[in-house]
Amino acid sequence: MFFPTFRARRIRGKEVFRNMVRETSLSVNDLVYPMFSVFGKGIRKEISSMPGIYQQSIEHIVAEAQQAHELGIPAVLLFGIPERKDAVGSDAYAKHGIIQETIRALKKQLPKLAVITDVCMCEYTDHGHCGIIKDGDVDNDSTLELLCKEALSHAQAGADMVAPSDMMDGRIAAIRETLDKNGFAHLPIMSYAVKYASGYYGPFREAAESTPQFGDRRSYQMDPANRLEALREAAMDVEEGADIIMVKPGLPYLDIVREMRNEFNLPVAVYNVSGEYSMIKAAAKMGWIDEERVIMETMLSFKRAGADLILTYHALEVAKMLQKGYEMARATRCGCP
Ligand code: PBG
Ligand code: ZN
Repeated sequence: MFFPTFRARRIRGKEVFRNMVRETSLSVNDLVYPMFSVFGKGIRKEISSMPGIYQQSIEHIVAEAQQAHELGIPAVLLFGIPERKDAVGSDAYAKHGIIQETIRALKKQLPKLAVITDVCMCEYTDHGHCGIIKDGDVDNDSTLELLCKEALSHAQAGADMVAPSDMMDGRIAAIRETLDKNGFAHLPIMSYAVKYASGYYGPFREAAESTPQFGDRRSYQMDPANRLEALREAAMDVEEGADIIMVKPGLPYLDIVREMRNEFNLPVAVYNVSGEYSMIKAAAKMGWIDEERVIMETMLSFKRAGADLILTYHALEVAKMLQKGYEMARATRCGCP
């Protein structure tokens, strides 16, 4: 393909052609909306570093989830902030814990909206780590038992899918076995298969009140420098029975999303995490970027990298943009005069 026989600009010359040859598209069906359910009543507290995202008590969660549902968003991802935290995260697997009650309320009011639950201990432990502490570190195998109890209690409360985010070894197999033994063989697992120890989770920890009280998560979350390790992690989860594999964070790890797409034939999800959201909101507030355009371009980049599903705090905004006919063309059009 040589100039002047070939001219790449020919097919870019008209909007109608650009629309015809666009390789990637975004649909409301690709979106999952993460929500923070807090114990109590009448609470709707905005997270200071995440404008537009709230810690909400159950009745407000249901109201906002209804909005998501009406916009056509197929699923929400739930995080819980319990009344009390303790060393073993008891509320995580309590029959009437915060998440269990939220699931029941959502399934009662909005039976067709899929409820996915984050399965982890860090929102429920007083030390803020993702499992049981032994000798100053998270103990893998004793944590597995609690994760199984947690996942099962979510299933029993009516969750449609569970999403373990703890990064313990063997958790997918353990949870799969527990679910199968208890009559939930049909319940899918979305594994946070490739989860990096990331500074981009900062705002989330304010939202979920889950900052570790000592140390950090580098003994269980992955080193941002590693790519082959991502392939090993995902291969383990696939063999253990994961139904969807997720990469997290999103934007700084698009290469890893592409690796997953090329290597595995399972659906791939990407988590557009809190810090990514906060950065767009902050720059938009400063008037430095065209917010809608940057959001859509970001979503498109996930699809182009190979993701099937996007977990994003922008879900409501994106669904509204799609609804009012925001053409992907706009996201790719030069804004300059
Ligand atoms: C809990 C969990 C975290 C996120 C999702 N599940 C935080 C963490 O591991 O510290 C991050 C989500 C976000 O930043 O939006 N294990
Ligand atoms: Zn955790």
